Amino acid sequence: MQIFRDLPSLRTGLASLRADAGRISFVPTMGALHAGHMALIEEAKRRASHVVASIFVNPTQFGPNEDLSAYPRREADDAAMLEAAGVDMLWLPDVPTMYPHGFTTHVNVDGLSARLDGEWRPGHFEGVATVVTKLFNQVRPDIACFGEKDYQQLAIIRRMTRDLDFGVEIVGVETQRDRDGLALSSRNAYLSQDERARAAALPETLVGAGEGISAGEDVPAVLAWAIRYLLDSGFDSVDYFTLSDAATLEPMAKLDRPARLLVAARIGSTRLIDNIPINP
Ligand code: PAF
Repeated sequence: MQIFRDLPSLRTGLASLRADAGRISFVPTMGALHAGHMALIEEAKRRASHVVASIFVNPTQFGPNEDLSAYPRREADDAAMLEAAGVDMLWLPDVPTMYPHGFTTHVNVDGLSARLDGEWRPGHFEGVATVVTKLFNQVRPDIACFGEKDYQQLAIIRRMTRDLDFGVEIVGVETQRDRDGLALSSRNAYLSQDERARAAALPETLVGAGEGISAGEDVPAVLAWAIRYLLDSGFDSVDYFTLSDAATLEPMAKLDRPARLLVAARIGSTRLIDNIPINP
């Protein structure tokens, strides 16, 4: 696996990969890789002859009181995992490469970015959309793979890619889960043993609420039950628990079209998100 840390050498490397013909799949990450990321790499390999991954802990998608400095950084281990998985190239830019002095351009996807996590993490999705735009322009992939665990992020990237004619096929990959159902996330590493045990209530509540809604129960009543159940199960607060349109993420009061049940909740200082599909 070739590793690049500056743009001129990345461009030279990509040019030789392209000369080889075939398609390029891209998996952008913030590192601290786990089986969820490796599922993205496997999907990327299935869909193209060459796979490029990136690791960049993007400061502009973290709020002032969020976990940028605590975010796990394990570059050598991550690189070894990517190499063992058969990735061709790893792009490892630093902050000045991504945001040189005087950087003032931002990408914002109206509407979709304002809901749900957008309300709780102002500026987060502008940071994501801007960095993914830059990464797409740097790598110019044919395909890019993102996890469905960050469902709102996936919806925003799909819309941005369509609106701005990037010509990249966006592939959503199913959430990978631990044995008790907790969605794999780099942030799970923040949980103490006791918090980790309590966190299993998150997928359990999603599944329970999903079954109730699919069986025709009143949607607002199910959502209120779900929030109460999470708090009773040891979560400290719930930012949202909602049934939303699968494409626009508009809230739904009844299940009359493809939807997503989405939750964000906190245990101690750790904020966890998760979601599942629900169809009428
Ligand atoms: O999902 C992530 O890891 C990040 O939000 C992404 C897409 C790599 C942008 O920094």
